[in-house]
Amino acid sequence: AAQAKARGSRGAEEVNADDGKKRVAVFFGTQTGTAEGFAKALAEEAKARYDKAIFKVVDLDDYAAEDEDYEEKLKKEKLALFFVATYGDGEPTDNAARFYKWFTEGNERGVWLSDLEYAVFGLGNRQYEHFNKVAKVVDDLLTEQGGKRLVPVGLGDDDQCIEDDFNAWKEALWPELDRLLRDENDISTSTTYTAAIPEYRVEFVKPEEAAHLERNFSLANGYTIHDAQHPCRANVAARRELHTPASDRSCTHLEFDIAGTGLTYETGDHVGVYTENCIEVVEEAERLLGYTPETFFTIHADKEDGTPLGGGSLAPPFPSPITVRNALARYADLLNSPKKSSLLGLASYASDPAEADRLRFLASPAGKDEYAQWVVASQRSLLEVMAEFPSAKPPLGVFFAAVAPRLQPRYYSISSSPSMAPTRIHVTCALVHETTPGGRNAVPSEESKDCSWAPIFVRQSNFKLPADPSVPVIMIGPGTGLAPFRGFLQERLAQKESGAELGRSVFFFGCRNSKMDFIYEDELNNFLEQGALSELVLAFSRQGPTKEYVQHKMAQKASEIWDMISEGGYIYVCGDAKGMARDVHRVLHTIVQEQGSLDSSKAESFVKNLQTEGRYLRDVW
Ligand code: 2AM
Repeated sequence: AAQAKARGSRGAEEVNADDGKKRVAVFFGTQTGTAEGFAKALAEEAKARYDKAIFKVVDLDDYAAEDEDYEEKLKKEKLALFFVATYGDGEPTDNAARFYKWFTEGNERGVWLSDLEYAVFGLGNRQYEHFNKVAKVVDDLLTEQGGKRLVPVGLGDDDQCIEDDFNAWKEALWPELDRLLRDENDISTSTTYTAAIPEYRVEFVKPEEAAHLERNFSLANGYTIHDAQHPCRANVAARRELHTPASDRSCTHLEFDIAGTGLTYETGDHVGVYTENCIEVVEEAERLLGYTPETFFTIHADKEDGTPLGGGSLAPPFPSPITVRNALARYADLLNSPKKSSLLGLASYASDPAEADRLRFLASPAGKDEYAQWVVASQRSLLEVMAEFPSAKPPLGVFFAAVAPRLQPRYYSISSSPSMAPTRIHVTCALVHETTPGGRNAVPSEESKDCSWAPIFVRQSNFKLPADPSVPVIMIGPGTGLAPFRGFLQERLAQKESGAELGRSVFFFGCRNSKMDFIYEDELNNFLEQGALSELVLAFSRQGPTKEYVQHKMAQKASEIWDMISEGGYIYVCGDAKGMARDVHRVLHTIVQEQGSLDSSKAESFVKNLQTEGRYLRDVW
């Protein structure tokens, strides 16, 4: 927190009154770094364009240490740009959550931002119901509270090419910024700006000097707080397959041992798990880059004299010294499709001019369709693209700064409760065996790893049982959507055993076939027998003559659901956001409308109200 405060105090309001320079705050709400990257790229480009302006890139969390500071500081801003991503069920990123809550909930502020001109760019995915909700809400509220919108909110769509959306939004923004910030001395704005390829400073270390220095996750357990940057090494204490051999799919039950690690969790929380690239993938990357695996190096985001590289736009690098092998295994996302900026990074180091031209073409506006086809639609991985351009061998500092994004943790809903498993975190995860359109086999990284331990951390959620155990609960979670409800039911069982009076509970579970993928069947029956669960409603989609889904079962139980809601009950949905959660939402709306004899718009505000009250909670992905 101290660090956050120190950084926050360098916010955009650091006005040195009379230097005649205009301050621009560039805020970002980022999870995987894309929004932050766009914010920094825009600031870099703007710095080159406007002599008399200072662009400050600010993490929304660091901007204000306390909620009141947001108001205090925002009031002083004249020009601000927001880059905000939307996740899962229309939620902001972790680092924007506090700002978003403060900004959306305090509507008594009236018109107080009359001095502010602003623009918002959103990062989202059109496949989701709440496409770019956070950006749209922030954009609307800024106008409502007096801000002047410079350009329409940018709706970046990660399902297509979000870099193109960003560029289009930026092109619309420049004339506005020119009007506000341009100085007669500034170079012509029509000069095309080419972003420098970012690069870390890398130093090679003799193995005999470095071997004992290599820091790895096994030493990371000294941290007092474990988060995405400081994961905790946890051993896998149990692992078993949950589907029967008759199933052609797989679902794994995993248990991480957290005894003595300092990690704690609550029922309904998420666990972030880092997986490593498998050895075949790493070896191929070593070969393509031309490094031997044992090469030791250190990596830095600043120059030897401590000045930050790239104007401070580089993310902090990973812990080093490290070997090329470990760096590629742990930190390089090699299996997702490369962004256009990665192609440009490769192009700058392609010794064959034909390869460089082709890479630049794919990243250019003219190559848009080919990029969409050859890279995105055919799901070509970065590694596969590199194999097609063998002359492109960027040095490590460029590879990790500009070509390969950082490998991201995967998040899972924890499927246990600390009241039953205080020293274990249970995870229920499906492995996807997919063949990409080109016929190449996408190997899930978990599979090829012996998986005896992993770096993990806990992310809190608001997906929690009602504080009062006598309140009725309705749970809906087909497939691996069952996970958090196993935790809920464990908690309810513990509550019951300690003498609590439990309210009614119904769990709607769906799977394909009772003989194949009915996971945790015995445990669910046990929860019923012990009274932790009142009713289990099952929907088998590939068993009888017709498809039965959880929402069909809900419709059949409409009056029961309505009764529970009327008694103050809570509704929980977990699982796939694009199909299931959307369909369940529609059915819930219908139930409320019919059972409550409301018209459609009244039913809608009723359901909305359940959401705002925190009685209709969704954990969807
Ligand atoms: P299906 O695969 O036969 O279509 C868990 O994955 C269960 O959720 C499966 O039985 C799956 O059925 C079902 N499912 C798929 N799409 C769904 C949707 N839109 N709503 C509810 N359940 C769905």
